[in-house]
Amino acid sequence: MQYTVHDFETAARAKLDPVYADFIAGGARDEITVRANEAAFGRLQLMPRVLRGSTERDLDIDLFGGRASLPVLLSPTAFHKLVDPEGELATARAAAAAGAIMIVSMASTVAVGEIADAARAAAGGQAPPLWFQLYIQPDLEITEALVRRATAAGCSALVVTVDSPVLGAGERNRRNGFHDLPPGLRCENLVDLRDGERGHVRQIAMSPELNWDHVDWLRRTTSLPILLKGVLHPEDARLAVRYGVDGLLLSNHGGRQLDTVPATLELLPEILAAVAGRVPVVVDGGVRRGTDVAKAIALGASAAGIGRPVMWALAEGGEKGVRRLLELLRDELDDTLALCGASGLRDLTPDLVRVPTWGPAPGPVAAPGADNRFGGVIA
Ligand SMILES: Cc1cc2nc3c(=O)[nH]c(=O)nc-3n(C[C@H](O)[C@H](O)[C@H](O)COP(=O)(O)O)c2cc1C
Repeated sequence: MQYTVHDFETAARAKLDPVYADFIAGGARDEITVRANEAAFGRLQLMPRVLRGSTERDLDIDLFGGRASLPVLLSPTAFHKLVDPEGELATARAAAAAGAIMIVSMASTVAVGEIADAARAAAGGQAPPLWFQLYIQPDLEITEALVRRATAAGCSALVVTVDSPVLGAGERNRRNGFHDLPPGLRCENLVDLRDGERGHVRQIAMSPELNWDHVDWLRRTTSLPILLKGVLHPEDARLAVRYGVDGLLLSNHGGRQLDTVPATLELLPEILAAVAGRVPVVVDGGVRRGTDVAKAIALGASAAGIGRPVMWALAEGGEKGVRRLLELLRDELDDTLALCGASGLRDLTPDLVRVPTWGPAPGPVAAPGADNRFGGVIA
């Protein structure tokens, strides 16, 4: 039985080919950022209010005119069929049943149209909250065809991943010789993208030549809300707003791209200050508990995303596994709000979180004397 998000990982590892488990768990180089993401949540403390007399908690969020009943997004993760025969169909049904936003990876092993149909059916025929993650391809015609596919499927926002001019160095994958999908699996969104290419599967191109003109081009190409995923520098956050981007998914790709970048939670206050309330900011990386979601929202995020936990839950129990994962996080978040004296997400305010100002910090932290973003001193 899974009582925590980490239990899903333990159960999944007992079933999975260790090569695939490494693909999920791994990060770039020394995986310093992977560890930092989770550690940052452990370091931040909650400061609950009491005697506020609230009996019910409202966990709904509104983002880009759409409503979700949980502020936990399923961040885009590739290749769900590696760990479950139904792949993204199972994930989408579970997300729709929980009323959570699923961001379909461009590298999904089921086509986005089929994922959307499965989600719609699970949501009782209503439009499910589904977004599409895009790597802008150097061939803009191909990129446009992908955007058309996602739009036709009913995706209501585009999440453009910009932290991958080249693929991060996943050394576990190198060591394991894991380079390609096994026979029978392919990136279904990349099939038949151009007329006269029947049965042709394109490779996803990482594009070192991308620049802000491409964002400008995309802005003019689609009327869907655009979020940038992977902006870490506050100056880039300001630029994103200037280029008409509608939101940011503050992410370091779960530590899978550039190693030793800061934990996303640590960067959140700086990024929020840079965008100054002009666009919503969602954060992912190391979110494993309801308390983590509450902390991110208290600092000012609109929602928090999860990557690896979804893969572990899918591997452990398919659609049911992902459903249980989302219920678990809902219960933990609800319980956190109750214990913080909050009746809704709007009651989660920055005064409810603090950084320890003395004593050893829990878990691995920055080197002694290192600067702490939240103003505390870590001994
Ligand atoms: C197995 C796996 C596959 C991923 N695939 C993608 C992807 O296709 N596109 C993308 O933008 N991010 C991808 N990511 C990054 C996630 O969207 C997310 O940023 C990250 O997993 C969040 O950190 P967490 O795993 O600690 O929750 C992937 C992450 C994992 C673990």
